[in-house]
Amino acid sequence: MIDIHCHLLPNLDDGSKSPEKSLEQIRAMAIGGITDVFLTSHFMPGRYHYERKKYDDKLQLLRELVQQNQININLHHGFEIFLHPFSIKDIEKHKLCLGNSNYVLVESDLNGLPSDFYENVYPLLRAGYKPILAHGERYVSIMHNVHDAKDLIRKDIYIQVNAGSLLGLYGEKVRQTAWLLLRNGWAHFLASDDHAKMPYGAYFDAVELLKTELDVSVANLLTQDFPGKILKNETIPYKYVYLRSVPESRRRRKRSLWRRIFG
Ligand SMILES: [Fe+2]
Repeated sequence: MIDIHCHLLPNLDDGSKSPEKSLEQIRAMAIGGITDVFLTSHFMPGRYHYERKKYDDKLQLLRELVQQNQININLHHGFEIFLHPFSIKDIEKHKLCLGNSNYVLVESDLNGLPSDFYENVYPLLRAGYKPILAHGERYVSIMHNVHDAKDLIRKDIYIQVNAGSLLGLYGEKVRQTAWLLLRNGWAHFLASDDHAKMPYGAYFDAVELLKTELDVSVANLLTQDFPGKILKNETIPYKYVYLRSVPESRRRRKRSLWRRIFG
């Protein structure tokens, strides 16, 4: 599995506060079966604004620590970019893509999406970047009208859902919205958005829930196949379909009902 969104590069944003804590989370990731992780520190002018070299130096130190501790996981660079009118300049100046791809993880005001969201994201699309909206289920406008997510996808914006949302860690409305996105095929990635505040475990619980509540193939798409395409900078489909296999017990119930009426 590949986690495309977490805040485990220490002391750069509101995520991990120490290399030891980062190591603890990354060890748990590897034990649970994560092979690759994008360390997506916030990039937000006025709050989390730094030179790319500072990020790269910290990443190098963490890679060395992971290697010294013989943890088998690949750390990739990445950023969670808070969209504003000049985001395109930041992306080009600081190279803020996920790994060596054209994909960029973006966020906006959770009270929105604000009216200028599209104005801020269109320059990215025009320049050939592929925006992924972080935790789409947490935006008030999408919670109010989940079909807004469909409009985003029609406009070539991918959607990432947080693992914790599926478990209800952000509240009931966010939980319901997350599941609606998944059931409609309007989510492309499941990620942890881990801030090292709790043990790294919600991601694995959410993956298991996704497999049992929805579909194993969707779980694989969102945690392996689509994130893997970011690593190779391959195109990810905006639309996908899945066939949910109805459990045998439910099929039997359906047949007996039919027989009761017509048999
Ligand atoms: Fe985040």
